[in-house]
Amino acid sequence: MTRTTDPVALNDWYVVGYAPDITADAPRRTRLLGQDIEVSRAPQGGFACREIGEDGGRTVPHVEERYGFVWVCLGTPAQDIIAIPEFSEGSDRRFLHRGRIAVPISGLRVIENFFDLSHFSFVHTGTLGGYGNAEVARYDVEFREDGTELWAVGCSFVQPKASAAVATQDTVVYYDYRIPRPFISIIYKDSLVERGRKDLIGLFIQPVEETSCVVHSFAFIFDRTNTDTDILHFYHEIFAQDRMILIHQHPQALPVSPLGEVPTISDASSVAYRRWVDQSGLEFSVLRNWTGDQMTRLGQVAGSGDAGVAA
Ligand SMILES: [Fe+2]
Repeated sequence: MTRTTDPVALNDWYVVGYAPDITADAPRRTRLLGQDIEVSRAPQGGFACREIGEDGGRTVPHVEERYGFVWVCLGTPAQDIIAIPEFSEGSDRRFLHRGRIAVPISGLRVIENFFDLSHFSFVHTGTLGGYGNAEVARYDVEFREDGTELWAVGCSFVQPKASAAVATQDTVVYYDYRIPRPFISIIYKDSLVERGRKDLIGLFIQPVEETSCVVHSFAFIFDRTNTDTDILHFYHEIFAQDRMILIHQHPQALPVSPLGEVPTISDASSVAYRRWVDQSGLEFSVLRNWTGDQMTRLGQVAGSGDAGVAA
């Protein structure tokens, strides 16, 4: 596709790279919202971004470095980059860049899967869930910051191994999920190492096309025993399991019509997310009027599997 004309999508901020990966010698050529871009170190400091096109391209004025990542808005920012106050709380948490992973599915699907508790036992068996404790306990869905943020709070789940930092033993783990933008979600998970504090695990989605994205992610956690490699191995194994599910989801965009799928009580956050996305006016990666029995422009299953998605 070509660059989207969806103003809601264009006027939002997206992570397009991890700042230390973009050096003077190695700009990052990538794609955002159907538009080819190049992100580079600016001679005067900071970062620069250009749209690449047959007409010679255009300088993107809205480029910022925040939380270790480079953020770009292709339109006129409708709001600031999200605030994550924990990043200014001091350095007792460990920051880990969890890499960037291409997924041939709507970025909204990735976010929805991220806060879905019901898949833990069946997709992350032995770590985030187990067959013996598959029930999703009730939780609450809240809208905060004048409705601009969606939260699923009071979530809990019995987890055999909740993080790399803990021994394997069934433990009830408490979570809050923050969804401050349609393409961003952060878990606030009770630390089992530092009681009373929260581990943060965040996903910043770079929507490449309507049905493909790059997942940039970070962990900001309490763990004084494992190496970075140990921790990354734990997270990458989990995300590889999610990716196998995500690439087979149908339709590939996010249906927001209540007629399309039948939710259960454990899907309360998903239902709220779809309504919230619908009301936001976002069109990019969204399927409206999908009733589950027709193929539409974003409903087709890609014939090429996960090939051809550049990270
Ligand atoms: Fe998962």
